[in-house]
Amino acid sequence: MSAKIIDGRAIAQQIRQEVAEEVARIKARGQVPGLAVILVGDDPASAVYVRQKNKACQNAGIHSITDHLPADISEAALLQRIEALNADPRYHGILVQLPLPGHIDTQKVIERVTPEKDVDCFHPYNVGRLVIGMPRFKPATPAGIVELLHRSGISPAGKHVVIIGRSNIVGKPLANLLVQKQPGANALVTVVHSAARDLAPYTRSADILVAAIGRPEFVRGDLIKPGAVVVDVGVNRVPAETPKGYRLVGDVAFEEACKVAGAITPVPGGVGPMTIAMLLKNTLTAFYLQQGA
Ligand SMILES: NC(=O)c1ccc[n+]([C@@H]2O[C@H](COP(=O)([O-])OP(=O)(O)OC[C@H]3O[C@@H](n4cnc5c(N)ncnc54)[C@H](OP(=O)(O)O)[C@@H]3O)[C@@H](O)[C@H]2O)c1
Repeated sequence: MSAKIIDGRAIAQQIRQEVAEEVARIKARGQVPGLAVILVGDDPASAVYVRQKNKACQNAGIHSITDHLPADISEAALLQRIEALNADPRYHGILVQLPLPGHIDTQKVIERVTPEKDVDCFHPYNVGRLVIGMPRFKPATPAGIVELLHRSGISPAGKHVVIIGRSNIVGKPLANLLVQKQPGANALVTVVHSAARDLAPYTRSADILVAAIGRPEFVRGDLIKPGAVVVDVGVNRVPAETPKGYRLVGDVAFEEACKVAGAITPVPGGVGPMTIAMLLKNTLTAFYLQQGA
């Protein structure tokens, strides 16, 4: 079997186009949606992600700034900066790029962003709404996966979805989105993690298998049920003879998986582009929220 490749780039481009058209309509009324991104320190991967997010905003017509703060900024000064952005009507969304330097309490920072501007959907208030099936924001990566399935004509309803990984960023919110009795969801969800003695009995029963582990090519072909849909969230740098000295691989051994799966998302070009597209959508949601809509 040769799996169908799910083209995240093309689907993300459609969404970005839809957002750009919506932004153009808003601008015609004399308003501009805005996103403020806070980057603390000089982590190279974070800098790349922030650049990509800003560029995507600019292309969609969203006003975006990056507040680049020094790695040794005090927690109090960072919290103060967030307060200022909470009160600034030009920025409807606020995003603090993670990870933060070790001397800063990440949870405290997450909770300081006002829930109305929390486009990452990390604030406990927004997480709670997600769990009870009344989300205002949906976290970008899990929402991107749900949208990718929907726009590829793959319904999770009644299917067994197995998610490897229980992070607050991917595994847990994805499980919470997919388990809702709602269109695009209604799945039978199992979350597995490092406490499993043997993953195979779980993963081999998955109609849709999501790998969010952070280990290069961890999911081999023999963990996949023939014909299953495989969603690879992983982004791992492995040394390679390329100009950058590395290449990106997912959490799934792609070539092997293609021989077993019915459909698969590639890395790069699968979930990653969707994450950015959904962030743009969340910025629009934040804009409307602040208009009282
Ligand atoms: N494409 C995107 O936009 C995007 C966005 C976010 C993340 N990512 C990528 O997705 C991957 C996961 O990210 P994350 O933030 O969710 O990672 P994370 O916080 O490190 O969580 C990894 C999860 O995998 C589980 N795990 C690790 N080793 C395992 C094993 N041997 N067997 C079973 N479970 C195992 C861990 O279990 P325990 O909880 O028991 O430790 C944990 O729940 C990373 O490669 C990251 O770069 C991509």
